[in-house]
Amino acid sequence: MRTAYSARADEYTTLLGSTGAMDPADRRFISTWAARCGGPIVDAGCGPGHWTNLMAELGADVEGVDLVPEFIELAKNRFPTVAYRVALLDDLGVPDHAAAGILAWYSLIHLEPGRVSTVLRELRRCLRGDRTLVVGFFASERLEPFPHAVTTAYSWPVGQLKRLVENAGFVVEDAHVRPNLDRPDRQHGTMLARRV
Ligand SMILES: C[S@@+](CC[C@H](N)C(=O)[O-])C[C@H]1O[C@@H](n2cnc3c(N)ncnc32)[C@H](O)[C@@H]1O
Repeated sequence: MRTAYSARADEYTTLLGSTGAMDPADRRFISTWAARCGGPIVDAGCGPGHWTNLMAELGADVEGVDLVPEFIELAKNRFPTVAYRVALLDDLGVPDHAAAGILAWYSLIHLEPGRVSTVLRELRRCLRGDRTLVVGFFASERLEPFPHAVTTAYSWPVGQLKRLVENAGFVVEDAHVRPNLDRPDRQHGTMLARRV
């Protein structure tokens, strides 16, 4: 995974490294959510850092973390006033309950399904009180791997992912999908989960 992204970090950044190229509904959702967090936000699996930067521009106290050093270097160069560092999703290097919000935007998609619960528990450890996690993911009728442009990814039935998130200590307050024009069988999903 790391090797695959390292090799294509520049290409990914050119194609997908700008919030201007993202769906306006996603921009609105993430912007509104970030403005309500009221404390430090972690962009977990930030890639080249564009969502982190958007949230920083809106005034959020935010840091982006990713396991791919090339992404972190690109992010630092592109957005020098924003904080980025290398870290793993299952060991974020954030003190217990330090985060007022965590964004996991299409960053859980490459995890083997059996590893997702471990990562969700790590995200919960980092969150404080009743704060929220936002997950962007691919939604489908069945849990299935697919050949994502960079490396294997998984799409999830909304209900199945919701159960996993709730079993890790969250209540899912919102889960919605929007069509994927390229792949009607693989929609874009967003989940807002509150820590309990
Ligand atoms: C599809 S990209 C999404 C990047 C960014 N969030 C975006 O929306 O463009 C998936 C990202 O998750 C990161 N990632 C995947 N598994 C990870 C892990 N176990 N620890 C840290 N980062 C991970 C990858 O390096 C990559 O940057």
